[in-house]
Amino acid sequence: MGALNIAKVGNPVLRKIADPVEPGRIGSRSFQNFIDDMFETMVQNEGIGLAAPQVSRSEQVVVMACEGEGGFPETVLINPKIVYYSPQVGEMWEGCLSVDNLRGKVTRPSTIRVQYVDRDGVPQDLEASGLYAVCIQHEMDHLVGKLFVDRMTDMSTLTQLAEFDEYWKQEPATVI
Ligand code: NI
Repeated sequence: MGALNIAKVGNPVLRKIADPVEPGRIGSRSFQNFIDDMFETMVQNEGIGLAAPQVSRSEQVVVMACEGEGGFPETVLINPKIVYYSPQVGEMWEGCLSVDNLRGKVTRPSTIRVQYVDRDGVPQDLEASGLYAVCIQHEMDHLVGKLFVDRMTDMSTLTQLAEFDEYWKQEPATVI
């Protein structure tokens, strides 16, 4: 147990469609330990979300948490499905623990509704907006082999971290 290695862009595991989790496995010690290890990995790397394919496990599991204003509670999405996208969209700078040193602007629906099973095996139905909605969509993209760079519509916003800090940090946007 402990922090896991993060798969980086170029690793084929990041491009696979993740398998659904067998519901009977959710309560097992090994699966619960895996979720704890994912949270530890996310925190250690200063992320606010992590999907199982990013730790080389091609399963439909996402962990997320973001403290502070505009943040959201600890959330575990197992076998999630987005059942509603708002017509309103928002643009936000995104980054990814699997894509070192790069940021880019991505436009996504502002509000979504997602149905999933939590780590207790209980079905949930959640409406999320703002950063929460962005993070859910970003992490769920990992479950279908997509990275934020695939979602960028304006590649001219692709920015290295030092240049982001120099030129773009003042923008009212959040990096995930
Ligand atoms: Ni990511």
